[in-house]
Amino acid sequence: KYLQDDGLSEECKKLLSILPKEKGLVGSHSYNYQGFWVSPRIIQGVIACQKQFQAQDSDIILVTTPKSGTTWLKALVFALVNRIRFPLSGQNHPLLVKNPHALVPFLELKLYVDGQVPDFLSFTTPRLLATHLPYASLPKSVQNSESKLIYLCRNPRDTFISMWHFTNNLRSHYKDTNSIEEMFDLFCKGVSLFGPFWDHVLDYWKKSLEKPTRVLFLMYEEIKEKPEIQLKCLAEFLEYPFSEEEETSGVVNEILKLCSFENLSNLEVNKNEKWPTGEDHKLFFRRGEVGDWKNYFTTEMMEKLDNIIEQKFLGSGLSF
Ligand code: A3P
Repeated sequence: KYLQDDGLSEECKKLLSILPKEKGLVGSHSYNYQGFWVSPRIIQGVIACQKQFQAQDSDIILVTTPKSGTTWLKALVFALVNRIRFPLSGQNHPLLVKNPHALVPFLELKLYVDGQVPDFLSFTTPRLLATHLPYASLPKSVQNSESKLIYLCRNPRDTFISMWHFTNNLRSHYKDTNSIEEMFDLFCKGVSLFGPFWDHVLDYWKKSLEKPTRVLFLMYEEIKEKPEIQLKCLAEFLEYPFSEEEETSGVVNEILKLCSFENLSNLEVNKNEKWPTGEDHKLFFRRGEVGDWKNYFTTEMMEKLDNIIEQKFLGSGLSF
């Protein structure tokens, strides 16, 4: 379905005709809308959610560039926030039977996609939502509310490799995959899903420094390295801190275990089920490791991306 550019509204088609375009990572073309790159179907969802979404101060919104570990973050936050309603040891925990994306839906990719009108009545408070939108393109009601934003960032090299695999998997039915060289050149030019990668990251990084109680900036690699510390930090930020009793009874580790790559990727729902649109849930679980890029990058690619990263993040306090 990601590949289909038909069924677009007249408004969207008119807009597309004047937007800058490049070769598509998933569909035939990517378009530059408000400074970031997306496929046509997504632009429709973006416009609809920008116009219609009304944020509530209690909302928790998870933000990533695609392939930064969104699935993991969704699982962690869902388990954390709902730990009383859904005890972790229970056999009926929703994460055991549903893919994390079904529990924490994307605004532009799910709730507002294809002209849908979301039904927020079924949500409990706080509402858990997700988006890939850059900060400047978030619906104004999100920017003006007290909702909490959690940004998960991942090393651009691993994000790129993960994206290359993912988009080619989505394309594979069409026997038309993108070579790593071609995708790498696009990535370096900023043409990636919701990219440029660096602009996306830097905007949220700056916001997290400006408004530390509203925006929490996390790194995939840091969660991998020190999961307990990062999860506790997440819980404090969301004002759902672990009690002493919870800590001694091992709740932190229970959440981490439930949401681990090993556990989630081996569940029936994530191994064998598909979205109604046909994509396999298992596409969201590949290796889940740090440093897989080393298995793919040539010296030339390494040097080129190192230079870009150095330039783009210079003076920001962020380095990769
Ligand atoms: P790899 O392709 O490097 O394996 P997203 O969820 O944003 O689409 O990102 C997908 C990436 O996160 C994939 O990376 C996937 O394997 C990894 N991932 C998925 N679930 C994970 C988990 N529970 N723990 C760690 N990484 C996970």
